[in-house]
This record gives sequence, structure tokens and C-alpha cells, in this order.
Amino acid sequence: MNIELIDTKTLVTKENLTIKIITPERLEKAKFKKTLKKAGFTAEQDTLCGMHGKSLLFCGVSNHEDENIKTAAVSIAKAIKGFHYKSISVDVTKENIRPLIEGFVLGGYEFNTYKSKPKKTKIKTLYLSCENVKELSPLFEEALIISEATCFTRDIVNTAPDDMHPETLAKLAKKLARENKLECNILDEKALKKERCEAMLAVGRASRHGSKLIHLAYKPTNVKKRIALVGKGLTYDSGGLSLKPATSMVTMKMDKAGACAVLGIIKAVSELKLDIEVHAFVGAVENMIGGDAYKPDDVLLSRKGDTIEVRNTDAEGRLVLADVLDYAQDKVKNPDYLFDFATLTGACMVALGQYTTGVMGHSNRLRHNLSKAAGAAGELTASLPFNKHLKKQIKSEIADICNISNKPYGGAITAGLFLDNFIKDENKEKWLHFDIAGTAYTETPWDVNVHGATGAGVRFMTQFLKSLK
Ligand code: BES
Ligand code: ZN
Ligand code: ZN
Repeated sequence: MNIELIDTKTLVTKENLTIKIITPERLEKAKFKKTLKKAGFTAEQDTLCGMHGKSLLFCGVSNHEDENIKTAAVSIAKAIKGFHYKSISVDVTKENIRPLIEGFVLGGYEFNTYKSKPKKTKIKTLYLSCENVKELSPLFEEALIISEATCFTRDIVNTAPDDMHPETLAKLAKKLARENKLECNILDEKALKKERCEAMLAVGRASRHGSKLIHLAYKPTNVKKRIALVGKGLTYDSGGLSLKPATSMVTMKMDKAGACAVLGIIKAVSELKLDIEVHAFVGAVENMIGGDAYKPDDVLLSRKGDTIEVRNTDAEGRLVLADVLDYAQDKVKNPDYLFDFATLTGACMVALGQYTTGVMGHSNRLRHNLSKAAGAAGELTASLPFNKHLKKQIKSEIADICNISNKPYGGAITAGLFLDNFIKDENKEKWLHFDIAGTAYTETPWDVNVHGATGAGVRFMTQFLKSLK
């Protein structure tokens, strides 16, 4: 379905369904109040009532706050899928255009790659009709770029692990680089050996797919800030020899969601043409079992030079990130910010639930600014605080650090503290770690999310980068 911004005067209403978003108060004064009430419609939030004789569809909202407009658009997007109209239209203002686009695009998202007979909607175009196209046009473009980048991220995460493995992910990154004029450098296993990324290489050793470190860079002419983004790209996490139980393994294609978020963000930033230099680093690896697999009891030498005692091969993301973070800090010296995105721990879901991204880092100010951006973007985040007691839990008796904690509590934070070990002193205050284990994927729809990948991180990070001056 196309989305077009159109002047109300030029809107052709033939074979068009007009959407009316209405509050309970407004319903009292509505022209069709009697008919609507007869149908039991009270304009309650997200409820719908069609008057197809008049080609009208009403949707209730409690008030015109962004969150309510957004979920109303989600309900509409789902309901209209089977309708036989050529187009639909809705009145937009500069206040509601963004939540409407996000609701329609993200709530109407479908992943049909593996459906042999996907249901096609008859609706060709969604018209956003307004009085002043010129004024709304930049807002329209921006909301569309961000929503489509989120869907781009979702598509990659949703792709089956045998189709989206480190090699195909690297190919896809190359294609994105070509299309969006980004610099692209991909390190294969030979190059990774040269870089001494032994921790990352160990995780991927039992896979038939070669590990890849992907580096994309967006370098505009007037650079105001430089940012390094790092994403965990486990294209499949079986747990390795510390094998996951069967039911926990299902959905582990989503363990690349951090990497896919980082790709979505650099896509959005380059299309929005922000004056910010963005580097995206992805550690693309598959964690498998086999005679060649890395083992609990192995000691790995990280790129930084610290030794890591492996006590659980399912705590693999932090091993990959240790090397990729170290590499990123060498390639992007003195960045303004360094952010990593990872589906890192089940413990983060236990702590915060499925709907909230865990934010960790040393700078209170940065965490505050980030949470402001997330609020504005409509994503939930919460801080998980570091402390020196939890830091002791990842000490090793035989190596410099251990890849798991020696106590069962605080697992999201101890994983964050493990990453902190690989952050250079000069970058400590510039770094944040986002644990998107809960937010990146869902099997039950919520908010603008449908079954599968959510694209967590794309909207809040793009919002944060947009807010930088
Ligand atoms: N990829 C998982 C974390 C995860 C779990 C993401 C559930 C999304 C949903 C990660 O690699 C992992 O397995 N972590 C272990 C760490 C443990 C062995 C210390 C975990 O969370 O159980
Ligand atoms: Zn794991
Ligand atoms: Zn993992």
C-alpha cells in the first residue's frame, strides 16, 4: 500500500473509504450520532464502527495524545486489510501525522516471505489529506523514513536462520551500503584472525557459516557529531555446547536483532541526511554445536588482550561484543557517543518485562537524555544500575574475567558489566548498552508490534540522533 500526502481539495472520493477518528465527546455532536450509537459504538479507544453505505469508518480515541492516535491507527490498519476499497483517506494535522504513519505502517506490517499464497489487500493507497501539504511534507517524509527503516529491521530479523546467516547478512549490508552511499568494509575469518578477534571467532567456530565483522559508515559533509553503533548479530543462538532447551531455542533467529537495529538506524540517518557521522559495526556469528565447538572451560584471548574464562557457551553475545566493541573503539577514535544493541540476557526480561529495553552505562546525563528521546519516540526504556558488588560476580579464578556471573541474580547488569570491561576509559561516559532481549521480538501483538520482530531501538535511537545539535 502506498502512502500519499494530499491536499483535501484534490482527494477523489470514488471507491474511497474515509476514516474518522473521534473522541467520545465529539461523538455527542457527530452527524451520524444516532446510527453509530444504535450500532453500539461509544468511541471507546481503538473500537471501530463501519458505515459502509456512506463509505465511512469510525475509530474511537480517548483523546488526541500521540499514543492513542497511534494505537487507533493500528486497529484501523488491521481492520481494513480485507476491505474492497481502492483507497482509504484520513485527515491529518501536524500534530497527528507522525503517530498515524507509525500506527499504519508498523501496525499494518506483515512478513510474507515464506507464505506461498499471501493475502493481497485490494487497497492501493492510503491518502493523508490536509489543508497545507507544504507545511506537513517534511514531517510526512521523516515519519515514513523512520517507520520504513523499522520495517527493514523487522524483515531481516524475521528471515529464517538458514537464509540469514553471517554471509547473507554481510551481503545485505553491502547492498544497503550501495543503495545509501555508505562506506562498507567486511572482515572475514582470515581478517578477523589478523585482528586477533579470538573471542568472536571461538563462538562461530562450529558453524558452517564463516563469521563476519561488518562495518558501515555514513559520512556527510557537515559533520556535527560522530557516533559508533555496535550490534550483536547472532544469526542463530543454539546455546552452543551449553545447549538451550528445545522450547527456549525457538525464536533464537532473533538473536541478530541488535545488528539489524544498527543497520536500520544507519539507513534512517542516511535517508534523513542528518549531519552526523554514523559508524555501524556488526558481529555476525552463528552459535552452534559440533566437534569444533568452543567449550565451557575454554579460556579465550580477547582482542583487547584480556583472557576470558568460558563457563557457559550460551553467554556468547558478550564474547562477540567484547571484540567488536574493541575494534569499533580503534576504528572510531574519540566518538561523541558509543552505543551497543544486543538481545543479551533473559535476565533483562525477568527484570523489566517484555516491553521495556534495559539501558546500562556510567553517565546519568546520557541515560536521562536517552530516556527522553525514547519517550518522545514511543519506546519504553528503563535504567539498570551498575554497582561494584555485582562487578565482583564476574571475576574469574583462572582468567582475567568470566563470561558468566557466579550468582543467579542481576544477570542483565552483570552482562552489562562484562561489556564495560571492554570499554576504554576515555569512552566510559559516552557509552550506553541497550539490552533488547525482551523488546526485539514478540509472539503476541502489543502497541505497534505484530507477531515477530519489532524493530526495537530504531525509533528511539533515530529520535536521539535527530535531537543532537
Ligand atoms: N540470546 C540469549 C538471550 C536471550 C534470551 C535473548 C531470551 C532473547 C530471549 C543469550 O545469548 C543467552 O542465552 N543468555 C543467557 C546468559 C546466561 C547463560 C548467563 C541467558 O540469558 O540465559
Ligand atoms: Zn546465548
Ligand atoms: Zn544470544
